[in-house]
Amino acid sequence: MRVHVADHPLITHKLTVLRDKNTAAPTFRALTEELMTLLAYEATRSVRVEAVDIETPVTKTTGVAISSPKPLVVPILRAGLGMLEGMVKLIPTAEVGFLGMVRNEETLKPDTYAERLPDDLSNRQCFVLDPMLATGGSLIAAIQYLLDRGATDVTAVCILGAPEGLAALEKAMEGRDVTIVLGALDERLNEHGYIVPGLGDAGDRLYGLV
Ligand code: URA
Repeated sequence: MRVHVADHPLITHKLTVLRDKNTAAPTFRALTEELMTLLAYEATRSVRVEAVDIETPVTKTTGVAISSPKPLVVPILRAGLGMLEGMVKLIPTAEVGFLGMVRNEETLKPDTYAERLPDDLSNRQCFVLDPMLATGGSLIAAIQYLLDRGATDVTAVCILGAPEGLAALEKAMEGRDVTIVLGALDERLNEHGYIVPGLGDAGDRLYGLV
């Protein structure tokens, strides 16, 4: 598994505003989208392309186009939805699938409550969007789901991560073709499972308390 933590002043600046508890939902949503677009640049570094011949006004030349099957973007409901626009802005020909995951309070394992994905993901590059890598439980389950359906390489994009979640992900995905791109790696998880310093509950800050 590969790990990439963004190290860019613009990302850190936007993250600082996002972390601020006084930042209201409209600004929080706009910043999440902007941050995703910046992280998408890094996350798509290995997107598959093929050669195409074109003619400029001056001469014939060869460029590249994104290969088929097109990449599949999978936001994890609900907070991952806040990252979707920022991703498809940069890669508009991608297809979009959805996965809804919730923690089962009896087993403490993530249960899938919604799923809209192609049955066969053979040879697909997949990009999973989930803003907060906390314990890693739901992200591990989501990536495993895609790999089980045949996805060949999976990149997860998270705005913030905790060392505990990253370690769990690295252990679960050892030797797999999986990449994680993080906006920042924070200090730790607190006793309630929140990332510290973090930004609070990403879903609530994007969409309100429901
Ligand atoms: N999910 C969140 O939204 N925030 C955290 O800090 C941890 C998990």
